[in-house]
Amino acid sequence: MNINVITASPLKHISPALVIGCFENTRDDLFTACDAALDGCLGRLADSREFSGKVNTSHLIHTLGKMPAERLLLVGLGKKSELNGERMRQAAGNAVQVLRTARIPSFATALHMSGEPGTALEAVCEGSLLGSYLFDMYKTKDRDEHFSFTAMSLLLPGGNRKEAVTSVERSQTLCRAVQLARDLVSQPGNVVTPAFLADTAREMALRHAMECRVYEYEELVQLGLNALIAVGKGAAEAPRLIVLEYRGAGDRSRPVALVGKGITFDSGGISIKPGAGMEEMKTDMAGSAAVLGAMQAAAGLGLPINLVGIIPTAENMPDGKAYKPGDVVTSLCGTTIEITNTDAEGRLILCDALHFARRFKPVAMIDLATLTGACVVALGHEASGLMGNNQRLLNSLKQAGERCGERVWELPLWDSYGEAMKSDIADLKNAGSRDGGSITAGWFLKQFVGTTPWAHLDIAGTAWRDKALPCSPKGATGIGVRLLIEYLRCR
Ligand code: BES
Ligand code: MN
Ligand code: ZN
Repeated sequence: MNINVITASPLKHISPALVIGCFENTRDDLFTACDAALDGCLGRLADSREFSGKVNTSHLIHTLGKMPAERLLLVGLGKKSELNGERMRQAAGNAVQVLRTARIPSFATALHMSGEPGTALEAVCEGSLLGSYLFDMYKTKDRDEHFSFTAMSLLLPGGNRKEAVTSVERSQTLCRAVQLARDLVSQPGNVVTPAFLADTAREMALRHAMECRVYEYEELVQLGLNALIAVGKGAAEAPRLIVLEYRGAGDRSRPVALVGKGITFDSGGISIKPGAGMEEMKTDMAGSAAVLGAMQAAAGLGLPINLVGIIPTAENMPDGKAYKPGDVVTSLCGTTIEITNTDAEGRLILCDALHFARRFKPVAMIDLATLTGACVVALGHEASGLMGNNQRLLNSLKQAGERCGERVWELPLWDSYGEAMKSDIADLKNAGSRDGGSITAGWFLKQFVGTTPWAHLDIAGTAWRDKALPCSPKGATGIGVRLLIEYLRCR
């Protein structure tokens, strides 16, 4: 979808549809002006409670020649005192869902006029772009039923057009990165393999003047990333470690390390998962998709920071060569791990990657992983699990999450949780009981980060949704990209 910035009054601009925001119990100038143009129709709708302005409500009407816009789409913004960026994004997302249902591919919007001048424009762009996303790469039939948006015109009654255009470009850069993450997660496991992720990173490096190095099997053996190697042993395609570096702050400044779980399919391995729903385990590389998206966005936005993205990637498969329960592996840092469940593979590939990340002397490390089903039990789909060893870092991530709408919720990581991860024959085991499963997984990772400020995001419940949301159709959400960028922007 193209976005045009047009200097025009909403009451004078010709378009197939005009979107305006409406508050609950408050009528702003634009509402009043449209109401007057429509001979009091909007006031009637409000009085009769057909349209109240509550959040997540909308109403589409024809203007029958009384306005230059053929239709008017009213979108609820809730109470004026409660308006924030997230509400604005959701309203913009709702608007595109209604327009999609009505098959109106090009429209104008004045939604941002109801919000804060500085932030509303970006929120409206983001909500519209994220909401209009569809994954239809593999649909070959019924192309005539296919619908996609062509253009959105952002109406600016006056003010600084240049500033608005810059905001639009920033939003487009960010949303393209979210789209990349969604596409990677939605694509099937026979396409998105460890080699595919490596190629994606290499191409990104070429396009954005980043550096990319992919450690192939022999190098992993030489370096001693045995936990990553163990997980990949049952697969036809070899595991890899992808390292992507972006330098927006010169060579002297220490980077932030972003580490993403890249299991391109998680069958569980020898501790095989039940068949029902196993197809969803193509999404087990959502952490790596978030890292790739965030790297692309940071470079595209030219953020003045250094970043290193680290992606351990493998397929977790059962096979004669696969690793087995009872095996003991010596991880990169020398810690020995008894495998008690081959389905607890994420923490294994991450423990090597987190230890490897310390080579870059990062000021902070953030890992993202679809790590545990227990996190879905604990938090459902509304928040990602957050754990770590540095309260300042955790607080910054929480605040970033609130601002961008990708919420996180902290879980404790007390030492006593470690009892569950003690092995009789090795330093650690990779799986404990079901109790506190997200936390024991986080505790396990903590053993490999040393004193570096570190945060772990368990995105098992947030990377994929079975239900459509205003800003994300059902399926991949692209979670993490906007959270990381919001955090990095305000660090
Ligand atoms: N990738 C899964 C976790 C997962 C579950 C992600 C549901 C998304 C949706 C992970 O590798 C896994 O299998 N975890 C096990 C750990 C257990 C064996 C200790 C789990 O959660 O059951
Ligand atoms: Mn697993
Ligand atoms: Zn997994």
